[in-house]
Amino acid sequence: MRMVLLGPPGAGKGTQAAAIKKRFGLAHISTGDILRENVKSCTRLGLAAKRYMDAGRLVPDDTIINMMRERLREDDAGSGFILDGYPRTVAQAEELGVLLKEMGLCLDTVVLLEISDDDVVGRLGGRRVCSNCGAIYHVAGHPAEKEGICDSCGGSVIQRGDDMESVIRERLAVYHAETSQLVEYYEKRRLLRRVDAAGPTDAVLTSIESPKVIM
Ligand code: AP5
Repeated sequence: MRMVLLGPPGAGKGTQAAAIKKRFGLAHISTGDILRENVKSCTRLGLAAKRYMDAGRLVPDDTIINMMRERLREDDAGSGFILDGYPRTVAQAEELGVLLKEMGLCLDTVVLLEISDDDVVGRLGGRRVCSNCGAIYHVAGHPAEKEGICDSCGGSVIQRGDDMESVIRERLAVYHAETSQLVEYYEKRRLLRRVDAAGPTDAVLTSIESPKVIM
């Protein structure tokens, strides 16, 4: 299966992707995670991306498209993938279509996680992430068993730099201005399905477990 998870910041794309990956063993490909790894390792890509990420703006399309051209050709993507945070613009969606066509593949489904802006601000204000393995927590809804320590790997659980309210508001504005155009884009291609992001953390998994979608 090859799917895209679409939705505003904090909708739960990373959380839902973890449940789907566990069930189907698909590659979970998060552009945000790849970029953060590059920032941490001070690569040229990371240095170029950091100022956009810190400001809550999109990293330029060319950079993301080149990065994903390489990532989607890696071995683990061959048996299916969940794209989390990509595409985010119509240009990225067009390029994804071209790349998949070159590879003789196509998307099976695009899931839109729907949530209000106020709920996003509440969620991201309380989000904590493992700086080592990327596991996702929430101070109220899903805290780590030992404060500050990841349940899965023992790494440090921290707050992301872009989870400050002013940056969250900018990320939401960018989502509404640019990424939300992909709703109509994928609706026209009859690939879009909507899931209530306020539901359980495996709601997307439940929604796709239908013979029509699984390949
Ligand atoms: P990225 O890391 O992709 O951030 P995002 O899209 O803003 O999404 P988040 O990771 O913030 O949220 P999420 O939807 O994964 O929610 P989560 O599962 O963590 O991108 C960061 C930056 O990188 C961008 O701003 C941009 O600069 C750059 N970038 C990335 N991709 C790019 C691209 N393609 N083009 C250009 N630039 C790009 O959940 C959030 C919280 O809610 C957690 O605390 C969780 O525990 C809780 N939660 C989750 N689900 C539920 C639920 N069902 N009920 C209750 N709580 C829940």
